[in-house]
Amino acid sequence: MCGIVGYVGHRAALDVVLDGLRRLEYRGYDSAGVAVISEGALAVERKAGRLQNLETRLDEVGRDNFAGTVGMGHTRWATHGAPIDRNSHPHRDATNRVAVVHNGIIENFAALRAELEGLGVEMASDTDTETVAHLVAFAYGEGDTKGDLPASVRKVVRRLEGAFTLVFTHADEPDQVVAARRNSPLVVGVGEGEHFVASDVSAFIAHTKEAVELGQDQMVVITREGYEVTDFDGEPAEAKPFTVNWDLSAAEKGGHEYFMLKEIEEQPDALANTLRGHFSNGRIVLDEQRLSDQDLRDVDKVFVVACGSAYHSGLVAKYAIEHWTRLPVEVELASEFRYRDPVLDRDTLVVAVSQSGETADTLEAVRHARAQKARVLAVCNTNGAQIPRESDAVLYTHAGPEIGVASTKAFLAQIAANYLVGLALAQARGTKYPDEVAREFRELEAMPEAVQRVLGTVEQVRQLGRELADSKAVLFLGRHVGYPVALEGALKLKELAYMHAEGFAAGELKHGPIALIEENLPVVVVMPSPKGRAVLHSKLVSNISEIQARGARTIVIAEEGDETVRPFADHLIEIPAVPTLLQPLISTVPLQVLAAEIARSRGYDVDKPRNLAKSVTVE
Ligand code: F6R
Repeated sequence: MCGIVGYVGHRAALDVVLDGLRRLEYRGYDSAGVAVISEGALAVERKAGRLQNLETRLDEVGRDNFAGTVGMGHTRWATHGAPIDRNSHPHRDATNRVAVVHNGIIENFAALRAELEGLGVEMASDTDTETVAHLVAFAYGEGDTKGDLPASVRKVVRRLEGAFTLVFTHADEPDQVVAARRNSPLVVGVGEGEHFVASDVSAFIAHTKEAVELGQDQMVVITREGYEVTDFDGEPAEAKPFTVNWDLSAAEKGGHEYFMLKEIEEQPDALANTLRGHFSNGRIVLDEQRLSDQDLRDVDKVFVVACGSAYHSGLVAKYAIEHWTRLPVEVELASEFRYRDPVLDRDTLVVAVSQSGETADTLEAVRHARAQKARVLAVCNTNGAQIPRESDAVLYTHAGPEIGVASTKAFLAQIAANYLVGLALAQARGTKYPDEVAREFRELEAMPEAVQRVLGTVEQVRQLGRELADSKAVLFLGRHVGYPVALEGALKLKELAYMHAEGFAAGELKHGPIALIEENLPVVVVMPSPKGRAVLHSKLVSNISEIQARGARTIVIAEEGDETVRPFADHLIEIPAVPTLLQPLISTVPLQVLAAEIARSRGYDVDKPRNLAKSVTVE
């Protein structure tokens, strides 16, 4: 949801900022813009559409006009105001001295706008953000904040409601950039003779791995020499320094056509890294958590709250956690959870799953759960993000940076992490003997290898994707853990290929969806193992024969050597035999590839599907 970057240093700010925006573009790509303090004035350029449009525009107007070592930039996912040039960031005050970029939503912007219009200000855009530029300009020009940019920003942000990361430059302040945050992310990059602010570290990882993460309602002033963090009252505040543990190559395509394919191929590593270190001395160790064994023993109900693919990871985990712990597990869309008065108390464990750790719905669900005294464990892929910060405990997935907007490796890592939570609960509650817990963990540990083998089917699946590119719709069917896999396969196809896709529990087919089956309709079926769940397997074989008899084109994902299914499969994708509960970790992979290839064949940008952004920081 919008990427922002600010820089003060010794390099050409325009280059640093554009480079940062290139890495942040996954956060939104409705428009892009830059501001550089150049010869005592603000040089600003903004353009609707992809960053490339801005770059072309900069070439037209001449990059020489942007000489300077202080600047900032923005890549937008539109909230207030259509994605057109004049609504693009940075926004400026009427005198063109203050520039601001913003990630989030200012909820009281209508009142602020009315106030400014009452003072005779003419708005140049339809955005909430522009109001802030005018307010800071007024504060800078008068009263006890006159000529003091940090004090002016403090005065204004105290008045703002909603979610924001804001970055400011002022033409009269060529040695500093000021940034403030509430409910949206902001990290500082600490270099030598240069400092950065950004939505995430990928924006400056090429220059420094030393970072500082700002807390809620904090502000930072960066200069060439250093940085100073305060609260919104100007009191010194503590922010958490950390060192980024991945390098630039992790955030680059590395020879792949698009990030998503690279990230699909990184899944064995993502899984292995997520599991690493969590089994020691015969026990599951959730070392990043602050819940004791006693806390886990006290749990009498589990909720998993999440959105999108993360929600599907929870649906998968429900089967395992209930089976291993005998605890009831409810999986709920975070956007629904807090609006329906769920029954929570201090013995409820709420597992909040979020790759970004920023998703507004999930964050609000966490807050609601904690207000009801439930204990919250975040499963998150982003170090120090807001959701883990506000949770009682955190279990990090170590999938590495996920740039493709559609989740792949983070999804698999979420399933693995959720399973670790299930095993830790089973261990603490004694519903599994230690040797059983150890065996389950060993089986999980074998999964990176199994995923690696499935990656061997990528070319076959890509070929199939090309054949299906002109389809109007695709259905996905599964039973048991195959059902959430079907939902995930359909979600991937919708978001990437803009194709109608639905996932169904195969048992529901005859209760309605079978009416959709028509000649040549592609139907993807996720088969359970014939050995693991023989009953489910035979039921699903009947379901496939029913749809094939009605003319569907069946695409069957089945265990190697599953001969019973062969006569019913127009296309067979074979996956290795693994324990039933772990099958989603491999059966999802061909569905990811299929969606990506269909999208590519239809000419769409696989990494940046229309209307979407990587982290959804508005409800
Ligand atoms: C789908 C996808 C989204 C996210 C969802 C939650 O491919 O990526 O559905 O899973 O927006 O995001 P996080 O995990 O960051 O909370």
